[in-house]
Amino acid sequence: MNNNVKVYLSEQRDRQLEELTEFLKIPSVSSLSEHTKDVESCANWISNSLSEAGMQNVKVMPTKRHPVVYGEWLGAEGKPTVLIYGHYDVQPVDPLHLWETPPFEPMIRDEKIYARGASDDKGQVFMHIKAIEAIMKTTDSLPVNVKFLIEGEEEIGSPNLPDFIEEHKEMLAADVLLISDTALYAKGEPAICYALRGLAGVQIDVKGPKRDLHSGAFGGGVPNPAKQLVDLIASFHDDNFQIRVEGFYDKVRALTEEEREAYRALQFDEEKVKKDLELSELVGEEGYTFLERVSGRPTLEINGIYGGFQGEGIKTVIPAEAHAKITCRLVPNQDPDEIIQLIEKHIQKNKPAGVEVTVTPFDKGHPFITPFDHPAIQAAAKSYEEEYGVPTKFIREGGSIPIVAVFDQILKTPVVLMGFGLESENIHSPNEHFHLENFDKGLAVICDYLFRLSDSL
Ligand code: BES
Ligand code: MN
Ligand code: MN
Repeated sequence: MNNNVKVYLSEQRDRQLEELTEFLKIPSVSSLSEHTKDVESCANWISNSLSEAGMQNVKVMPTKRHPVVYGEWLGAEGKPTVLIYGHYDVQPVDPLHLWETPPFEPMIRDEKIYARGASDDKGQVFMHIKAIEAIMKTTDSLPVNVKFLIEGEEEIGSPNLPDFIEEHKEMLAADVLLISDTALYAKGEPAICYALRGLAGVQIDVKGPKRDLHSGAFGGGVPNPAKQLVDLIASFHDDNFQIRVEGFYDKVRALTEEEREAYRALQFDEEKVKKDLELSELVGEEGYTFLERVSGRPTLEINGIYGGFQGEGIKTVIPAEAHAKITCRLVPNQDPDEIIQLIEKHIQKNKPAGVEVTVTPFDKGHPFITPFDHPAIQAAAKSYEEEYGVPTKFIREGGSIPIVAVFDQILKTPVVLMGFGLESENIHSPNEHFHLENFDKGLAVICDYLFRLSDSL
């Protein structure tokens, strides 16, 4: 890579980290309506930052809810076009009391920056803007054409982005889609993600007696919504952690022997997971390893279950209602709409007596998988290796980025998932942070990649 770019990056590092701090201070929580204004000012912040980096035609484009930010530089005639996607929205911060420093007061400790969004995904989006800025300021141009699409609704399932993409197909046309919103394999070990799981979820609301009842006066004689709900929830799995919803596995593409060999070759340390999470045992579907279970197999998880008395001590009551939130992670070729229908059917069939059950679907996403022999993906692996000095791994991730499958379908562009996070960085949890080591290395990788792409497509 161009040495002037390297020099620029190291000279500008302090200023860049100050800017990142400003970016992370904006509480752009997309799911909470009280933060709508913050999400909007965050979009404006990105838009300014893109303009300052030298992007043209920068605009904040409204959707039904949170805006999309677009910017482009198309001066590299005859060269490929890279579309960089990321998200500037973040997850809620609760439980707040577990944060060592407040989530929107970014703080650098031990070469890590702590704040909500530091790793997922503001820190990684910021790196792309700064990589572009560095090349622009030192060479007065870019080795490829670049388009940015940074959205504010990823953490709520990107409900408005599919239509946006469909409506702006031409504006978004590109040769490569580049995304940094995943993790390295481990510290110092880069990985390109070639598969993401899909998502399908429902809320279950169970209503029993018209009011809370004295459990002595009525207990034993009326349906208890909490008990009826847990029975229903228990019917979702068997003792081997297999999902018992009829038809759930019908469309699952089985892992091939080749895929399983690739998993084995990673030599993943399951003992370390146990230790890190302070667990005595790992559990899951029989016949599969931990890595297979968390990225190559589908799941049905209870994300929350609530209802009845939650306060201190006891209160002898039969609650009037109980609730659960459930999401499934899906693998190729499961379809989220079909899975929701199967769950609804299962609930009808196993409907507990004496209570009213309502099922409300959530936003969803399709699973994604791509072959990784495409030159754009192989070039990305080279750029990682250049900076990290070890071979790049190709991995499947268990998380979801719902829009990726949509991009894949509509734009038919190769997708390069080049992440710089770490599984240990507490994304979606208290004390989210981002390792500055990967901020520095990542900036160099991205710059190297843009130059490399210029000659490899
Ligand atoms: N960046 C994550 C997805 C991710 C996490 C990929 C870990 C690989 C490893 C993304 O921001 C995310 O959290 N997605 C949500 C989507 C949902 C809210 C629709 C997810 O996976 O739960
Ligand atoms: Mn993310
Ligand atoms: Mn996330």
